[in-house]
Amino acid sequence: MSGSGAAWVAGGGRAVQGELKVPGDKSVSHRAIMLGALAEGTTRVSGFLEGEDTRATARVFESLGVRIDTPSASERVIQGAGLWGLHAPSGALDCGNAGTGMRLLAGVLAGQRFDSTLVGDGSLSRRPMQRVMDPLSRMGASFEAEPGGLPPLRIHGNKVLQGIDHQTTVASAQVKSAILLAGLYARGETSVVEAHPTRDYTERMLAAFGWPIEFSPGRARLAGGHVLRATDIDVPADFSSAAFFLVAASLVPGSALRLRAVGMNPRRTGLLGALRLMGADIVEENPREHGGEPVADLLVRHAPLRGIEVPEALVPDMIDEFPALFVAAAAARGRTVVRGASELRVKESDRIATMAAGLRALGVSIDETPDGAVIEGGRIGGGTVHSHGDHRIAMSFAVAAQIAGDEVRIEDVANVATSFPGFVALSNGIGMGLAEA
Ligand code: S3P
Repeated sequence: MSGSGAAWVAGGGRAVQGELKVPGDKSVSHRAIMLGALAEGTTRVSGFLEGEDTRATARVFESLGVRIDTPSASERVIQGAGLWGLHAPSGALDCGNAGTGMRLLAGVLAGQRFDSTLVGDGSLSRRPMQRVMDPLSRMGASFEAEPGGLPPLRIHGNKVLQGIDHQTTVASAQVKSAILLAGLYARGETSVVEAHPTRDYTERMLAAFGWPIEFSPGRARLAGGHVLRATDIDVPADFSSAAFFLVAASLVPGSALRLRAVGMNPRRTGLLGALRLMGADIVEENPREHGGEPVADLLVRHAPLRGIEVPEALVPDMIDEFPALFVAAAAARGRTVVRGASELRVKESDRIATMAAGLRALGVSIDETPDGAVIEGGRIGGGTVHSHGDHRIAMSFAVAAQIAGDEVRIEDVANVATSFPGFVALSNGIGMGLAEA
């Protein structure tokens, strides 16, 4: 999908109230398809995110000869082809808008006996792939990309991969995962050491599929030459999708909302820490395990927020939540400072620039810095903002609109379907005001 097209008109919502469960986790859904496809036997996935990003990954594996059935929207049944059972595709493999899909696939495809080409939409075609090409090339993989390391990414197969010890320079679970997945095909041991620990779903899921792996926050080590054994995966609700409602209910007076069975992997929940520092009232209820992942119900009630200096240590654990955090900051009393978040510039859009332009259009005072922003909280006005085809920007402005002085028009919202199909209906169901324009 190109990302252009469709708009929302938002605002005039009531207090946010009731209960809801957001769709399945995007990171876990991508990995469930990938490991299920490479496993021996049948993997059943429940709670699957029926979004465009994860469907693109499933289509890629179908093009590689894997049978994937869809008994219902949130279920997939994957007939694993085994580590060496993928077939050469007849054309380019389209990852859509998904950076996770393309970067993790680069690791898987680097180990195959055939050539392949990964392509993506306009946004993905501007996202850096050098960060995976460099370590994978050190393992013996061979790539060609456009100038600047941009997609399409051509992967030459039939290479003998060798395990490496890699120290990451950018905090990126996608880079770590690409290396570990290539490590399944490599001779000897592969290890990754991270300066800042990132989400560990690849490590957890490899263990669930029976692959021997040692891991702890910031470290992972495995050796090639084992087998993935099919297992059933129960995908938790996506914390990043819940994040929009955590902010909406915090901001709109009179709100009280319960979000059910939200994934609480500590490498994902940094926003909770930041919102609590701002004065948010969020209670974790009924903590439990769901398919090997911690989940909890989250009860969030309106509370006046104050500006903070976002602790840099929280940044990797809330990297996808900055658009929502910027909205909370714009509505808070006082100044919020974000530093150490330059990765935001290479997401689905340049999220610092896109949020700054949109908030300014709504009358908010915000200064961009190379690795963050300084936001003066206060009143949010009405106006027109552009999401630049970035799903999380569109949903964040839908939240901002709920407390804006006037109507907010949000352009280019079609890509919300990449991560959160049904966002409009769920939002309206709890009292937010949001309509397709
Ligand atoms: C993801 C890792 C993060 C995150 C993305 C999903 C993953 O990207 O922003 O939404 O599933 O591994 P980076 O690895 O670029 O930080």
